[in-house]
Parts: sequence; structure tokens; C-alpha cells
Amino acid sequence: MNRAAVLTVSDRSFRGMRPDGTGPVVAELLRTAGYDVVCTALVPDEQQMIEEALRRLARDAVLIVTAGGTGFSPRDVTPEATLAVCGRMAPGIPEAMRLASAQVTDRAMLSRAQAGLLGGTLIVNLPGSPKAARENLEAVLPALGHGLAMLSGAPADCAADTDGK
Ligand code: MTE
Repeated sequence: MNRAAVLTVSDRSFRGMRPDGTGPVVAELLRTAGYDVVCTALVPDEQQMIEEALRRLARDAVLIVTAGGTGFSPRDVTPEATLAVCGRMAPGIPEAMRLASAQVTDRAMLSRAQAGLLGGTLIVNLPGSPKAARENLEAVLPALGHGLAMLSGAPADCAADTDGK
């Protein structure tokens, strides 16, 4: 079972002003898809703290899903933190998320979410609301298992119809 971690990025939740409603939704989607969610964490919208959390979580998980901080507000720096820690990017993942989300809202284009590889760990950014996070993750989750298999060096059959685990 692949090990996953969820990182919520939110000033308000970090300060206790709003409960983190998104992290639990993301964790449940991952568990339902067959992942072992080994850690959930919460950081404010501070690039340095996000980078440190990503590096720490990558020691335990092959998949890190972040939620929040992908928009245009001056405090939204999750994509920048992701770019800073990743050695290789995986642009097809946010492309697929925005394509699917555009069917739901024309504001899908306002997410600056990134995805990339930090060593043997895939990092995927999601928007912050529970609804947006669910819609974005559901668009790509079925394909991630095949990517993680390739990342681990396992022989991966690209023709197989994988189920995301
Ligand atoms: N994608 C989906 N599927 N559904 C949504 O409601 N909201 C958009 C966008 N992507 C949305 C979505 C909006 S309004 C914003 S501002 C961006 O995600 C960034 O959200 P964030 O700042 O919470 O990360």
C-alpha cells in the first residue's frame, strides 16, 4: 500500500480561526483509493514552513497532497514552495485538474497548482476549499498509482488499466 501524507496550508486554520475541513476530505479520498495516510499536517501560508514540511513528509510518504494557497492572494505561495523543493515537475497533473475543473467553474483557471517530484515522492497541490480539493483530486487520482509505480522503479505496464493504487 502506498504511503501518503496530506498537508493543509492555511493561515486561518493554523491560527485556530477556522477548523481544517479540507485535510480530512483529502485524507478520506486517499484512503478510499487504497493509500495508507501516514501523516496529516497543517502549516500557515509561509513559503519556508511549507518547504520544510514538504521535505519532512517526503521522508515518510511517496505521495504528498497539499491543500490551499494556490490562488492569487499575496499570501498564496504553495506553488512556489513546491517548485522550490521539486527536482522535476509533472505539469500534466495540474493540467488535467484544471481541464476537469473548467467543466465545473470558470474560476478553475485561477488555481496556480503545481505537481512535481521530490526524489521518490510525488507532490500534488490542490485548491483550499473542500469542494475544490475533492473535484481536483478526483480528476487525477485514478492515474497517480501508475506514476508512483514508475517512480519507484517497478516495471510498469503502460498499457494496463490501473486503478490508482
Ligand atoms: N477548482 C474546482 N474544481 N472547483 C472550485 O470551486 N475554485 C477555484 C480554483 N479551482 C475551484 C477550483 C478558485 S475560486 C480559486 S481562487 C483557485 O482554485 C485557488 O484556490 P486556493 O486559493 O484555495 O488554493
